[in-house]
Amino acid sequence: MQITLNTPLDMHLHLRDNEMLKTVAPLSAQTFSAAIIMPNLVPPITTKEEVKAYKNRIKEAIGDENFDPLMTLFFKDDYSYEFLKEAKNEITAIKLYPAGITTNSEGGVSSIDSESLKNTLEAMSELNIPLCIHGESNGFVMDREKEFVPVYEDLATKFPNLKIIMEHITTKDSVEALDRHPNLYATITLHHLLVTLDDVAGGMLQPHLFCKPIAKRYEDREALLKIALEAHPKVMFGSDSAPHPQHAKEACGCAAGVFTAPIALQVLAELFEKHDKLDNLQKFVSDTAQKIYDFKPAEKIVVLEKKPFTVPAIYDTVVPMYAGEEISWSIASIS
Ligand code: NCD
Ligand code: ZN
Repeated sequence: MQITLNTPLDMHLHLRDNEMLKTVAPLSAQTFSAAIIMPNLVPPITTKEEVKAYKNRIKEAIGDENFDPLMTLFFKDDYSYEFLKEAKNEITAIKLYPAGITTNSEGGVSSIDSESLKNTLEAMSELNIPLCIHGESNGFVMDREKEFVPVYEDLATKFPNLKIIMEHITTKDSVEALDRHPNLYATITLHHLLVTLDDVAGGMLQPHLFCKPIAKRYEDREALLKIALEAHPKVMFGSDSAPHPQHAKEACGCAAGVFTAPIALQVLAELFEKHDKLDNLQKFVSDTAQKIYDFKPAEKIVVLEKKPFTVPAIYDTVVPMYAGEEISWSIASIS
């Protein structure tokens, strides 16, 4: 059995910098046509010059792979209209992090409300720059995303011309909010379609499945799976593949992030096949994102086949999801 994917896209990806960038960027560049690149470096990407320089470092790391890094800025509430107008041709979106909520987000926004963010969000609406949000409060870890839903709804209502992407949604509440506002969209990761908190911490603690937002309940996973499998028109694949070196994951104080980039398409094929929905995978991994972001990426044809593949135990210093395990789909060809 085979499936051909035309121009796969990863709409939420962490590529890091330096040695880590050299390890992980080629892996995404091989199988994806383009990806939205997260700006949470240390320090974060906040100027047009930094965007350009980071993009060049990514290009260097991927060599001659045909792959388009779609760059983002790290949201600051003092970005002016003039600044954004200048930066616009270098970026695809802006990513907003609540301060301190996840890896390298210390410089994020401490008070997310429509009044204090008004000037920047109005400018973004006018310039048609999408806003990607890591939507979590600083409450109890299992309630953080649920508590953030009213913030999404307030922003969506107050800025009706702003495209807002609820990044890596993990709950039934977020799924329900999606259809209440025409300008709310979402990305879903591979791991949140597969695991619940039980897999992370129900038995022996699994650091390589620990991420933000934390995986939730069975009913949440079901709600995510349903809209992904049916290729809901406002939902895109965004891996949130977030590599950390093995020593930072297998540590007392485990870094948050699951590394899935090299296995994402194969495991998605496995999952969609299991639910008899392979026909919808093309929309979930490409077509819907092209419509939402209104862009035409360079074509890349990836053929996947149902043939066992043993996931490497480690990629340089990074342990992937399903390390050392056998998955049932492989990449057959890429052109
Ligand atoms: C991401 C990272 O490591 O940069 N971690 C994660 O757990 N997902 C940041 C993020 O997207 O929250
Ligand atoms: Zn992320």
